[in-house]
Amino acid sequence: MTSPMQKASELVAHAASICVLTGAGISAESGIKTFRDAGGLWENHSIEAVATPEGFEQNPRLVWEFYNARRKAAKVASPNPAHLALARLEQGRLHRAKQKPTATNGHGKAHRQPQPITILTQNVDGLHQHAGSQNVVELHGSVWKVRCTRCGAISDDHPVELPVLPYCSACGALLRPHIVWFGESLDPGVLDAAEVAVEECDLFLVIGTSAVVQPAASYPFIATRHGKPVIEVNKEKTPVSAIATVSLIGLAGEILPKIV
Ligand code: OAD
Repeated sequence: MTSPMQKASELVAHAASICVLTGAGISAESGIKTFRDAGGLWENHSIEAVATPEGFEQNPRLVWEFYNARRKAAKVASPNPAHLALARLEQGRLHRAKQKPTATNGHGKAHRQPQPITILTQNVDGLHQHAGSQNVVELHGSVWKVRCTRCGAISDDHPVELPVLPYCSACGALLRPHIVWFGESLDPGVLDAAEVAVEECDLFLVIGTSAVVQPAASYPFIATRHGKPVIEVNKEKTPVSAIATVSLIGLAGEILPKIV
């Protein structure tokens, strides 16, 4: 009899294009707190105070202090075996794709091939990129980016602690973290990229998310509706477990290296 772990490994081995949805649980073993576990990220703050546009309007200093602390935590964290396994998987697939002759359509043009791996992450810590993953869609933004509240310019800003309060070098207005807060919509370009990845993949992986925040939470369900197998890796059951083809209960850092 095939064990769930073997079944997951076989699904991964045979999939040409894999879409991976990750949440805070994949970074837990790197020492970054999750949101909803006991003692989680919101521990000492209300979500309204630090993760809503209204909270920022009322007390931008508190919000910047909160995100400076997030930057510090992300800076000292290293990718764990789960991040590294996904990066290795992508590198292996890209290497294999380079060695294959390019398929052409009837007009001699190369077919657009789906990406071998697309990571849709709800995390803002940059650890997938740090591990070496190249095709990462940051659904909820990044702690390493700032956005001007007036001109909207987005820039990478890597000093660990920004001055409280930071201002735009182009127009002088207050900068805010480039993070999607509660009550805000995801960037339309990001949404499009995510939808394409969900549609084009032939396997969907869900790792370390409680799957309660939309639209990310709906992606595994959309994948299932399109007939794609879904593998879930989580240390406990979630709403996705009921529809998953294979549900692996345990730590992402232990399971991922085994199935990829
Ligand atoms: P949550 O904190 O809601 O869920 C973390 C999930 O990871 C839980 O299901 C845990 O069981 C699981 N988990 C924890 N440690 C794990 C490990 N080592 N291996 C495997 N699984 C583990 O975090 P998210 O689902 O990412 O949004 O939360 C989604 C969004 O809610 C966040 O991006 C954030 C928050 O509001 C915004 O800030 C916009």
